[in-house]
Amino acid sequence: MIDRAAAVVCLEQTRFRWPGQSNDLIDIDELTLQAGEHLFVRGASGSGKTTLLNLLAGVHTPTAGVVRLLGTDLAELSASRRDQFRADHIGVIFQQFNLLPYLSTVENVTLACAFSARKRERAAESTEVKTAARNLLSALNLPDSSYDAPVNELSVGQQQRVAVARALIGGPEIIIADEPTSALDTENRDRFLELLFREAEARSCTLVFVSHDPQLAGRFTRSIELRTADDMPGDAADDAVGASP
Ligand SMILES: Nc1ncnc2c1ncn2[C@@H]1O[C@H](COP(=O)(O)OP(=O)(O)O)[C@@H](O)[C@H]1O
Ligand SMILES: [Mg+2]
Repeated sequence: MIDRAAAVVCLEQTRFRWPGQSNDLIDIDELTLQAGEHLFVRGASGSGKTTLLNLLAGVHTPTAGVVRLLGTDLAELSASRRDQFRADHIGVIFQQFNLLPYLSTVENVTLACAFSARKRERAAESTEVKTAARNLLSALNLPDSSYDAPVNELSVGQQQRVAVARALIGGPEIIIADEPTSALDTENRDRFLELLFREAEARSCTLVFVSHDPQLAGRFTRSIELRTADDMPGDAADDAVGASP
């Protein structure tokens, strides 16, 4: 039986439609993720993957239905409390990493704590936030010499690991990743996924990872596919999204 009360992520009858559109872009009857689950969301370009992540992060509000994280219905929070909830409980890995080039490697990681007292406290239980960032970077095999260098001097592979460290610091319950492997060759992609899984598992993080690359699905504990209304004419669209255990 699905234990929704203990769920980290719970979507119920969740719909999202852009203004002026005649179809729902997102139409998910039910999706529940427990702590430590790794969900793969695949779909072609334009199928709504980024929009779904933005619904989970509370950046967008659903047109109908519920997005509940850690027992909190995001729609019941004010916009500023939603921003705070995101900063406190979610780590985000963006497609382009979104690292700030003029900050050092360590500063890019600690930035995630700048907006969240909760992350600050959790990162720095026994040390300083900066030290926590260095420890994380070290665990991700970034050389000491890179810590105080401007992050744009690092290789792309290293910048990815910095993005992972920034998502992990402060122990968020949820990590969302938007096609972080799309620019990587197979070897680097595999290495990146191994690293992400290892770190998420060590922290019982729930991971939601989107990609257009269906080859990756097998590595995840769960997988769903987003389809556009064009792909699924008529009533079949109701089944366009289903969680396959
Ligand atoms: N700010 C926006 N306003 C209106 N439509 C948007 C906006 N952002 C995205 N869309 C539309 O939503 C659809 C899905 O976009 P997106 O979630 O970015 O897909 P994906 O990440 O799967 O490529 C696209 O058709 C896109 O044109
Ligand atoms: Mg996208």
